[in-house]
Amino acid sequence: MSRENKNKIIKVLASLRDEINFLNYSYYTLDKLQIPDYEYDLLFKKLLSYEKKYPELISLDSPSQRVGSVSLDKFKSVEHKQEMLSLNNVFYSSELSLYMERLEKKLSIESKKISFSVEPKLDGLAISILYTDGFLDIAATRGDGAIGEDVTNNVKTIKSIPLKLIGNDFPKSIEVRGEIFITKRGFKKINSSSDREKKFSNARNAAAGSIRQLDSTIAAKRPLDAFFYTVGHMSANININSQTDLLKKLSSWGFKICDLNKEVIGQDGCENFYKKIFKIRDKIPYDIDGIVYKVNNLNYQKILGYISRAPRWAIAHKFPAEEKITSVENVRFQVGRTGVLTPVAVLKPVEVGGVIISNATLHNMDEILKKDIHIGDIVSVRRAGDVIPEIVSVVEKGLLRKTIYLPKKCPECSALLYKVKNMVFSKCSNTINCPAQIKGSIEHYVSKKALDIQGIGEKLIGRMVDEKIISNISDLYKLNKNVLKNFTVNSAVREDSGKEYEIKLREKSIDNILRSIKEKMEVKLSNFIYALGINEVGEVTAKNLAKKYKSIEELSKAKYDDIILIKDIGPVAAKNIFNFFKNKDNIDIVKNILKSGLFFKKDLKRKTDFFYGKTYVITGKLQNISRVQLEELISDNGGTISNNVSSKTTALIVGLEPGSKLKKANELNIKINSEEEFLKNINYEK
Ligand code: IVH
Repeated sequence: MSRENKNKIIKVLASLRDEINFLNYSYYTLDKLQIPDYEYDLLFKKLLSYEKKYPELISLDSPSQRVGSVSLDKFKSVEHKQEMLSLNNVFYSSELSLYMERLEKKLSIESKKISFSVEPKLDGLAISILYTDGFLDIAATRGDGAIGEDVTNNVKTIKSIPLKLIGNDFPKSIEVRGEIFITKRGFKKINSSSDREKKFSNARNAAAGSIRQLDSTIAAKRPLDAFFYTVGHMSANININSQTDLLKKLSSWGFKICDLNKEVIGQDGCENFYKKIFKIRDKIPYDIDGIVYKVNNLNYQKILGYISRAPRWAIAHKFPAEEKITSVENVRFQVGRTGVLTPVAVLKPVEVGGVIISNATLHNMDEILKKDIHIGDIVSVRRAGDVIPEIVSVVEKGLLRKTIYLPKKCPECSALLYKVKNMVFSKCSNTINCPAQIKGSIEHYVSKKALDIQGIGEKLIGRMVDEKIISNISDLYKLNKNVLKNFTVNSAVREDSGKEYEIKLREKSIDNILRSIKEKMEVKLSNFIYALGINEVGEVTAKNLAKKYKSIEELSKAKYDDIILIKDIGPVAAKNIFNFFKNKDNIDIVKNILKSGLFFKKDLKRKTDFFYGKTYVITGKLQNISRVQLEELISDNGGTISNNVSSKTTALIVGLEPGSKLKKANELNIKINSEEEFLKNINYEK
């Protein structure tokens, strides 16, 4: 093709792209239809046919890039350039008054004179999108606030999110933050479609489930939308003085902003807005769970600053949890992983906040007495967010109400129960063989905060324990293809013949389980300690133990008198830890797990400022360390990881088959380190 011709095509493509992007922006962001659908389709087809012919001319902001692409194996992790924070909550006016008093003190201004940006608290999924040179570069979930998952392919499918920013007054690099959601209508639509066998319990889970799909063609089919409300890192300052101006600026760049946002003065202004929105909440097309009040003036925000990962300049005023009336039909006792019996009310199913509720926790026998709950009573039930529903109070005593008694024996294994001293609950005494405790301990072991082993859910564990395929956590490592292939997950009856048939695990599920167990052979010591499920040993205690004891062997030999000296560990936890490792069954389980090949990650916790002020970019496949580990190693020791080579990059770390970053680093004369060189320089040993 001649140069002239090529230039012509480049121009045609650019104009098609701009036109379609404008039509998308107009329709999806501004809600304005400019041309009939068929005309739009014609333009799109024209673009696609040109791009098919000249694939080298497909640009990052082409609307054709929104259709989703092939499945990923897993999400890459992305370090946010600036941490994503959370918000503190208040529920009552009195709490809000206290918040206002704190503002007055810190700012030395009467709170009735302070201006606030008031915004519905969107009940979706937080997202941070990095725009580089105005182009959508990386979209990441919140994750733990510091590191999220790269969901760029999925986010690109959301048509109201700009692939390219409008105007030219945006910083070269900027993280724009907002909330992805699915409207109430959209939620109903996907839940009523027959494509999915499992229903989402609410619109937020549907949005999160869609964004966390490895196959982005699925996200492309879901009615996802997004509002934006703040920014994270910016490579240059933008000239604005208030949150409301920031929202205007975001809007000018093409982002969709919630049209209910407002500027008000003082606590009265905030509360009036709250009342107004609360009244129309049902009519708002998307889910919200409160109002966020943000001190509007950015200078004031600076003075107020942050307190433990939440800004002092903002507060979320949450809506009260919705309550509904229903009746208690029965009570059953659930046995947890530590043997504690929890009474659970079986309710006449009722819809609360879009979810059908048929169980509610009764916490313990004292709670039942205190609330005077009986079987047959009419009660009000409450559910807030994802927490377990609970009974608020008895509304009407049942005519034939029956008292709720604690069973004499464990409902799962018939062992004797005992009441823990000074505690309100009873426990099953059969710590090793009670199937409910076994199931609970395995569920805990594989859970996200523990070993995070995927593919093994509650149902599967239940079935495997019932079938005696596994009887403790170390048995997970005995699972293999053969065992799983022959294992019957369920049985069903054929409609036509009435014959019963067995349902086996699918090959893909088996591979998934075994791969995940293998992947989690290398774990953090703190995660493993937590995963053991020792009573009273939560995440923080497990971390403190891992700091003090460098190996599980060391911990298992620790004396009570030493354990009790560790930060935040009280006598009860210390005794539980000590007793856990005195028990031969537990010791055998741990030994068996280690024998299966489980080993511990090197302690990469921040010890030095070795990489302080340095920024690294990684490219290509690493051979001696995983990418996540290398990223952790650098950031734990004070350095920064970036996804883009720029003049600020200290060095580019290069693995096998490097990408375009190598070329850019060469162009910019940036130092290049091979993986081996880099690891050798820092004396890293595997
Ligand atoms: S501002 C520094 N504004 O609420 C605070 N957050 O509980 C940054 N959220 O993670 C957040 N609507 O996902 C902000 N108008 C709004 C919001 C909002 C919903 C979410 C957000 C955040 C969570 C904190």
